Amino acid sequence: MRVAIVGTGELAGALADRLLRGGHDVVVFGRTTGSAERLVDLLRTSGPGMVSASTVGDPLAADLVVLAVPASSVPDLIEQYGEELPGQIVVDPTNPAGPETELHSPAGFSMAERIAALAPLGTTVVKAFNTIFAATLDGEESLDVFIATDDAEARMTMVRLVQSIGCTPIDAGPLHHARALEAMQWLHQSIQPYLGTRQSTTIALRLF
Ligand SMILES: NC(=O)c1ccc[n+]([C@@H]2O[C@H](COP(=O)([O-])OP(=O)(O)OC[C@H]3O[C@@H](n4cnc5c(N)ncnc54)[C@H](OP(=O)(O)O)[C@@H]3O)[C@@H](O)[C@H]2O)c1
Repeated sequence: MRVAIVGTGELAGALADRLLRGGHDVVVFGRTTGSAERLVDLLRTSGPGMVSASTVGDPLAADLVVLAVPASSVPDLIEQYGEELPGQIVVDPTNPAGPETELHSPAGFSMAERIAALAPLGTTVVKAFNTIFAATLDGEESLDVFIATDDAEARMTMVRLVQSIGCTPIDAGPLHHARALEAMQWLHQSIQPYLGTRQSTTIALRLF
C-alpha cells in the first residue's frame, strides 16, 4: 500500500519505519520540506518499501492517510485537504487528552467522531494506533492495534495493513468506540509514572 503520514514527529517516524519494514511505500508530509526530508533521511534504510518527502498542502495521492499530528492541528488539516478527502481512508491515531489534561472523550465526542463530522461526505474515518506508544513499534513485537470504524471495507483494509506489519488487529467496533480507545490510552499514559515504564508498555487483549 501507499501510506501518507502527516507529521514528522515521534509517532510518524516509528509508524513509517514499521510500515517500510512491512514493504509499504510511505510519503511523509512535513510542515516544511526540510522537516519531511530530515525524517526521510533517517528512514532510507528501513526498507524494503519506498519512502519520500512531501509538504503539507501537496496532494495526498495515497491509499490511506494517517494524521500523526496533535489533535488540535487536525481540524485545520481536514479543512485544508477537504476536497481530496471523499473516497479517502483517514486514520486517526490522536489522543486529545494527555496525562496533564482532564479526560473528556467518553461523555462527549471523540476526536475520530469530530473528524467524521468535519470531513466532507464520503470520507472514511478509522481510529487506530492511538493505544500504541511510538517506542514499542521499534522492534518486531506483535502489538494489538485496536481498529474502530463504521466502514466494513476500511476495517478489512486496516486488518490487512496491521497484519502485514507483524501486529494483531483487534476489531474495536464502530467509530464511536473511539471514545473508549481515547480513554484507554489516557489511562495508559497517565499511569506510566506509577509503573515507571516510560512508554514501554502496550495495551493487549489476552485470550484464555
Ligand atoms: N508518540 C506516541 O507514542 C503516540 C502514540 C499514540 C498516539 N500518538 C498521537 O499521535 C499524534 C502525534 O504524536 P507525536 O508524539 O508524534 O507528536 P510530536 O512528536 O510532537 O510530533 C507532532 C508532529 O505534528 C506536526 N504538526 C503539528 N501541527 C501540524 C499541522 N497543522 N500540520 C502538519 N503537521 C503538524 C509537527 O510538526 P512540527 O515539527 O513542524 O511542529 C510534528 O511533526 C498525537 O495526536 C498523539 O496523541 C502519539
